[in-house]
Amino acid sequence: MLKSFAFLLLLCGTALAADSYDGYKIYDINTRTVFEKELLLRLSRNADLDFFDLPRSLEAASRVMVQPKDQVGFEQLLQKFGVEYSVVDEDLGVSLRQEQLENQSQRLMAQRSTARSISFSAFHRHSEINAYLDELAAAYPSRVSVQVAGKSYENRDIKTITISNGDGKTGKSVIFLDAGIHAREWIAHAGALYVIHQLVENFAANSALLKNYDWVILPVVNPDGYEYTHTSTRMWRKTRKPASASCYGTDANRNFDYHWGEVGASSYSCDDTFKGQTAFSEPETQLVRDLLLNLKGRGKFYLTLHSYGNYLLYPYGWTSALPASWRDKDNVAQAGAAAIKASTGTKYTVGSSTNVLYAAAGGSDDYAFAVDEFPISINMELPAGGTGFYPTTAQILLYGYETWTDIKAMRQKVVENY
Ligand code: ARG
Ligand code: ZN
Repeated sequence: MLKSFAFLLLLCGTALAADSYDGYKIYDINTRTVFEKELLLRLSRNADLDFFDLPRSLEAASRVMVQPKDQVGFEQLLQKFGVEYSVVDEDLGVSLRQEQLENQSQRLMAQRSTARSISFSAFHRHSEINAYLDELAAAYPSRVSVQVAGKSYENRDIKTITISNGDGKTGKSVIFLDAGIHAREWIAHAGALYVIHQLVENFAANSALLKNYDWVILPVVNPDGYEYTHTSTRMWRKTRKPASASCYGTDANRNFDYHWGEVGASSYSCDDTFKGQTAFSEPETQLVRDLLLNLKGRGKFYLTLHSYGNYLLYPYGWTSALPASWRDKDNVAQAGAAAIKASTGTKYTVGSSTNVLYAAAGGSDDYAFAVDEFPISINMELPAGGTGFYPTTAQILLYGYETWTDIKAMRQKVVENY
């Protein structure tokens, strides 16, 4: 019965790096049966269909970006099986050009109106983000230091910022936050910057959060991918190292060496979820690995920011089984979700990655918990904007604030227990 969509799978070939998204459509699909969900799961193996969201739960809609050449076949297939769908963006090319214009003008305005290299009214480039970190280190040398943790494949500096309360004590427990493992999830990078801003530039109000804990923040794990989404292909997810003769990039969140490649990761280098030729094949994931390893014992809370879907996820991502300590993680995540709900009304779903989203091995969250012994490890999936990875610049402050609200509540639970 499922054979009739084999034709669509055959169309797949290599995923093209599209510069323009003219005529691309975004569909929401409301599956009502296990069969329909299974159909989507099969379709998602077609590298040309970019599933932005494919949650496990039947009630949650799935969202997919479809190229012009596939649209007729795709719609016919859904109709044939009686699957309910709607088009939520008729032309992504138009939407993205608007996004770009809007972001450009906001960036220019920000340059004129703030002393810093970044603002929370625009999505900033990697060089601006790095410049901001250096500005903070120069302005607050007793509390802030910036390290070049390593280089990306294309030789960009990957920086971490270490924030303390300036009491000079070393060897404290550490909260580690990263963002931007996936290039196109711009709101994640912005969320990390908001947290940095609060801890450093709003220190008077937030100094208690730095008592007994240092924070290490890596706002752009994958700068090559991030820059590529600004200059060329907005929906790029992976790193940018050639993965084979014909395709670029590895999914950094499938590249960590814990049950690597066992489930939910592709062996096909052109796929968006390509696991890499080997575990830790990417300089960017090696760098996160080494940073986390160095914090073994001191690291109490690992938080990784992604988008989208409004989830607070904890291990495991590779199996539906839960770690023995899952209740501790659940308590922390529930506290974060409750705090956001109380402050802005935004709802987050809490649970293990596999159980609420899908099984996908090789993620940084599982690795931080299982290998580097961070007792609390959480993946925060920030909200969508527009129809997916492009919140408007006007949404940055709200989502930044929610991230901050969440982190404060989760940190409170962590320090009560570790
Ligand atoms: N959206 C994230 C991804 O696909 C979820 C990761 C959850 N963690 C995991 N280990 N599967 O990378
Ligand atoms: Zn992601």
